[in-house]
Amino acid sequence: MSKVAVVTGAGQGIGFAIATRLYNDGFKVAIVDYNEETAKKAASTLGENAIALKADVSDREQVIAAIDAVIEKFGDLNVMVNNAGVAPTTPIETITPELFHKVYNINVGGILWGTQTATAAFRKLGHGGKIINATSQAGVVGNPNLMLYSSSKFAVRGMTQIAARDLAEEGITVNAYAPGIVKTPMMFDIAHQVGKNAGKDDEWGMNTFAKDIAMKRLSEPEDVANVVGFLASKDSDYITGQTIIVDGGMQFH
Ligand SMILES: NC(=O)c1ccc[n+]([C@@H]2O[C@H](COP(=O)([O-])OP(=O)(O)OC[C@H]3O[C@@H](n4cnc5c(N)ncnc54)[C@H](O)[C@@H]3O)[C@@H](O)[C@H]2O)c1
Repeated sequence: MSKVAVVTGAGQGIGFAIATRLYNDGFKVAIVDYNEETAKKAASTLGENAIALKADVSDREQVIAAIDAVIEKFGDLNVMVNNAGVAPTTPIETITPELFHKVYNINVGGILWGTQTATAAFRKLGHGGKIINATSQAGVVGNPNLMLYSSSKFAVRGMTQIAARDLAEEGITVNAYAPGIVKTPMMFDIAHQVGKNAGKDDEWGMNTFAKDIAMKRLSEPEDVANVVGFLASKDSDYITGQTIIVDGGMQFH
């Protein structure tokens, strides 16, 4: 029987590439996103073994309802990819309590509720599973202008290690992927802001990130999806608590 995967924030960008990869690897896939329109479009692009569910990952009740709906529809859950995240550019003086709560509720809270809910589901279903979290190269080394984002992604690596320790004996592995500079709407927004803050254009903004990539090319979403495909497969069964950096050679850690 096919395995079942949930990918949050899969209406576009890296999440959609991950959903596509897992679908092609034979998973039934649930696309969870707070943008219902893109989620539905993404699911219909994949085919009949994909469903779209609307949920805001920062809201615990909505995450629980989404996972319940997945199990109701597909009868199982094996892989939870906590991919949804937001990345506003935040020079220190611009940060407000509202922005702080927003970023942390999504980037950290979303990982927490996804981990908690998937763990409860695995226990109820009577088997282990795989939890895979989105961090970033900015969660490995602090990035300028990204106080909230970068620090929230450090937290994701910490949570990945903690959950890996807590859940290993139940057959649940917990790992993270740390992309570099990926060609998605999120990255184009960041490049635009960084360029604007410096009085320059979008290309200049993107180059501030791109110039330090050893391979001298930006990442395609599929570069990241390939690593998540591995983390979701049995080939990674003996790996837990790790962050795999997939950035073309930016951070060596
Ligand atoms: N693009 C990059 O260069 C890059 C680099 C490192 C890490 N990442 C991480 O990869 C993940 C995906 O990034 P992306 O570039 O594809 O972003 P993106 O902005 O292109 O797509 C993010 C998706 O998540 C959804 N989303 C956002 N907040 C949500 C919430 N609260 N609940 C449900 N859905 C929500 C959005 O609607 C969107 O569909 C993020 O966690 C991001 O931090 C991206």
